Amino acid sequence: MRLSPSPPPNWVDDRTVLGRLIAAVLAVEPLRQLLFLQARRMMIRTAETRGIPWRQRREELRLQAEPLLEACTNPATQIPAYYRARFHAYQEGNLCWQAACETEQATDSVALRVWKEEKQLTPEAAQARMREAIYAAIAPSLNAPVRDVLDIGCSVGVGTLALTGWLERRGYGAVQVSGLDLSPQMLAVARVRDAGGRVHAWHHAAAEATGLAASSFDLISAQFLCHELPAAATRAVLAEALRLLRPGGVLALVDQDPDAEAIRAMPAPLATLLKSTEPYLEAYFRLDLPAALSEAGFVGLSRVASDHRHRVLVATRP
Ligand SMILES: C[S@@+](CC[C@H](N)C(=O)[O-])C[C@H]1O[C@@H](n2cnc3c(N)ncnc32)[C@H](O)[C@@H]1O
Repeated sequence: MRLSPSPPPNWVDDRTVLGRLIAAVLAVEPLRQLLFLQARRMMIRTAETRGIPWRQRREELRLQAEPLLEACTNPATQIPAYYRARFHAYQEGNLCWQAACETEQATDSVALRVWKEEKQLTPEAAQARMREAIYAAIAPSLNAPVRDVLDIGCSVGVGTLALTGWLERRGYGAVQVSGLDLSPQMLAVARVRDAGGRVHAWHHAAAEATGLAASSFDLISAQFLCHELPAAATRAVLAEALRLLRPGGVLALVDQDPDAEAIRAMPAPLATLLKSTEPYLEAYFRLDLPAALSEAGFVGLSRVASDHRHRVLVATRP
């Protein structure tokens, strides 16, 4: 197992010619806007040709989620400045209905793209396969009873519900899984998607300042959160996770794998599109997350490539 960091992929690294070229293209605002739109069109087209009813689902979710906004908003929650950046082709980033009502579809597209050569794979099957592989990577580290679980950066709850199902199937009957996110719109959609109320609580808070009680969780997951954070915020999230975990508790971080060939060798046009929608991608790839975990006080680090694009880092609070 290799725990030392890879350099960032050259397309995201402004010290390389390709990285500088891509950064220069993205610095031209009209071009950046065009790429934003292009990225969005490509995403929707791919999704709809693969059986994800992108627009229809957006309208359904919005209708049901809008009335829940107030109940999902904690007025005391401070929104950090970095969070107001443009993400994923949305001017208002994660703080808008369009983003929230398209995230389920986008998440299924991400899963389909992992196995893009399998044209018969349904979005549900791809999503289930991606999540099963993630949780299989966490399983060996769960040596103590798991009762309280927190999924930070839970978004619309795709991973929260998948993790809940996985824990239930593994016989953790009395487990209580909660989700936490900074976007009240995302949380409103999560509540709509969790119509059966399987998730214990949906918290509106920053992952670095949750306001939750110390030593109150056995497992914390951050599924695809870290690539949306500047390095200082990631370090703050790790410190908060350490505070929230009980001794022996486990933190699992899933995200893009800096060592994966599929990521490193991404064709330049695709890389440019991706970079135009992810403001902190370079920061993510530059940060040595395994080192940051040990600096935060975690031990027993393991690293597993859960598929050919994503890796799971699992670490324990001593
Ligand atoms: C890519 S999505 C996560 C996807 C989801 N966990 C899953 O497994 O499908 C990232 C989420 O992290 C949330 N987020 C970003 N920064 C955050 C922070 N500091 N605290 C809490 N949530 C944050 C965003 O609002 C967004 O919903």
